[in-house]
Amino acid sequence: MKVLITGGGGQVAKVLVKQLGHKHHLTCFDKSEFDITSEESLVRGLSLTKPDVVINTAAYTAVDKAESEPDLAFDVNGEGVRKLASACNRFDCVLIHLSTDYVYDGHTEGFHSENEETNPQTVYGKSKLLGENYIQQSCKKYLIIRTSWLFSEYGNNFLKTIFKLLDTGNSVSVVNDQFGSPTSCYNLACFIDEILFTLETKLIDDIWGIYNYSDSPATNWYHFSMEIEKAMNKSTTSKIIPIPSIDYSSPADRPKNSKLSCSKILRVFGSKSRSWKGEVEVLVKKLLKGTK
Ligand SMILES: NC(=O)c1ccc[n+]([C@@H]2O[C@H](COP(=O)([O-])OP(=O)(O)OC[C@H]3O[C@@H](n4cnc5c(N)ncnc54)[C@H](OP(=O)(O)O)[C@@H]3O)[C@@H](O)[C@H]2O)c1
Repeated sequence: MKVLITGGGGQVAKVLVKQLGHKHHLTCFDKSEFDITSEESLVRGLSLTKPDVVINTAAYTAVDKAESEPDLAFDVNGEGVRKLASACNRFDCVLIHLSTDYVYDGHTEGFHSENEETNPQTVYGKSKLLGENYIQQSCKKYLIIRTSWLFSEYGNNFLKTIFKLLDTGNSVSVVNDQFGSPTSCYNLACFIDEILFTLETKLIDDIWGIYNYSDSPATNWYHFSMEIEKAMNKSTTSKIIPIPSIDYSSPADRPKNSKLSCSKILRVFGSKSRSWKGEVEVLVKKLLKGTK
């Protein structure tokens, strides 16, 4: 399949290129080559590549900064996605778009399902929801994948931040009352690979819509950081201190409960649930090698 990946400078795009490169005819464009807020750039890139599928990883992802620059967040995650969705429709390609657990308010217990009411509490979450809405309005063939707590060797993410702090001997305070599921970008890419296989090989009239995807099991940020420390095999005395979110102030409030129900995506695409724990070990090993 001819696949165009947007947001080429980001962590998900880089992992997708590694994972899918040998199976599909891939083009990966960064922001300077394919700016989703520019109609001219979209038409140029789509005319050149004529993809069957566009995987949109491009986004404004600075959750805290978005609170002070909402115009930019809405321009990329809202308007940019609207332009991309309508261009995909015009070029008759499937749009696989990444969205976020931040579209839920996180006030309820249990696992969020796709048809649960959305109620984002942050500028980032609101801008991502706007993008989702535009896709639903203007795109015929789309899959919106809401995912959470991504980590990989690329860019900035929680795992790498905790790793660096512990590796340099620091103690670190981590909240223990926000729940969700870490998701390895590698596992997400394997899963997107399964979606592409389905698109290529099966009759697919009624699969378009919204899907949750995260790895399992659900945990909290404190226990996630304990797994990182365990994989580092650093010391017998933990340097991680559990704290309540009330003691950790940030411009954007994180959802208390980000746990995603993934039964729909597993059922429709015949996938298996993947664990993030083994991926933490693999990545920490890689990072440890890099620091020697
Ligand atoms: N990271 C997470 O934990 C997480 C969790 C749930 C969902 N998601 C979603 O997953 C997707 C991928 O996330 P990620 O972690 O890979 O993000 P990332 O590393 O921040 O990558 C996003 C990329 O998009 C680029 N971009 C920004 N504006 C653009 C524009 N107008 N046109 C084209 N590209 C543009 C960015 O470039 P610059 O850096 O140069 O601006 C960056 O390279 C996003 O949709 C995000 O909302 C992420």
